[in-house]
Amino acid sequence: MSYENILVETRGKIGLITLNRPKVLNALNSDLIAELDEALNVFDRDPEIGATVITGSEKAFAAGADIKVMAEYDYPQTYLMDFITSWDQIAQKRKPIIAAVAGFALGGGCELAMMCDFILAAESAQFGQPEIKLGVMPGAGGTQRLTRLVGKSKAMEMCLTGRMMDAAEAERSGLVSRVVANDDLVDEALKAAEKIASFSTPIVMMTKESVNRSYEVTLAEGIRFERRLFHSMFATSDQKEGMKAFIEKRKPEFEDG
Ligand code: CAA
Repeated sequence: MSYENILVETRGKIGLITLNRPKVLNALNSDLIAELDEALNVFDRDPEIGATVITGSEKAFAAGADIKVMAEYDYPQTYLMDFITSWDQIAQKRKPIIAAVAGFALGGGCELAMMCDFILAAESAQFGQPEIKLGVMPGAGGTQRLTRLVGKSKAMEMCLTGRMMDAAEAERSGLVSRVVANDDLVDEALKAAEKIASFSTPIVMMTKESVNRSYEVTLAEGIRFERRLFHSMFATSDQKEGMKAFIEKRKPEFEDG
């Protein structure tokens, strides 16, 4: 498939996707999301790929859903086409996805970053849910994911006032895992992705699944889920290899088995 709204490349075992609607600060429309979904599905199916990085431009990761398109919608239309529901597919991918955010990550852009498994922020990053200023509220998971990530008080303030959070505040609040120099953003994200891709892919995928489970179930259920997956890992050759290599003081050679 050829893509018009994103750039897709591979760097060894890493998929790198760059959102590419520079004239509108990577505003998200259905075509872009469909392309992103397709590219991530291809990477999910590709045994050579271990992790993916999604990034934007220096000025904007993404400035939200495309307001010029949305402005014309009416209620029956949004309901009938189930507007935005398909966007959540991005959060259902099985291999890890890192959001590398520089500049604006606003509205749907912040929500897209939060659908990824973790966010690395450049010093220039600014996060916000400014939908209230447009007469709507976040519609791609913002009221839910932001609240889980930064807590009720800060999420409520951001959604109700539309205030932006800079990178330092986002790190303090737990929205991003790390802040890095602007020039290092993509390299740092690729390095983290390479580290992930150097491990056993099925074990990485199960780890992602288990952490994500913590958002959906009670602590007791989550621990039971973790234990079942943990036990199952002892049926893999990668567990045998990983532990044997440690004992033999050498680097493990994982085979994704
Ligand atoms: N949709 C469509 N176009 C957008 C856009 C968006 N979300 N954000 C920016 N653009 C366009 C601007 O209209 C402008 O286009 P023109 O040159 O044709 O006028 C171009 O991108 C550059 O933007 P600005 O001139 O505004 O750049 P700036 O540096 O002065 O400001 C900004 C940057 C603060 C991000 C400002 O563009 C802005 O406030 N954008 C909108 C942010 C927003 O409200 N996002 C939420 C959208 S709603 C949503 O996402 C719903 C949901 O939950 C899914």
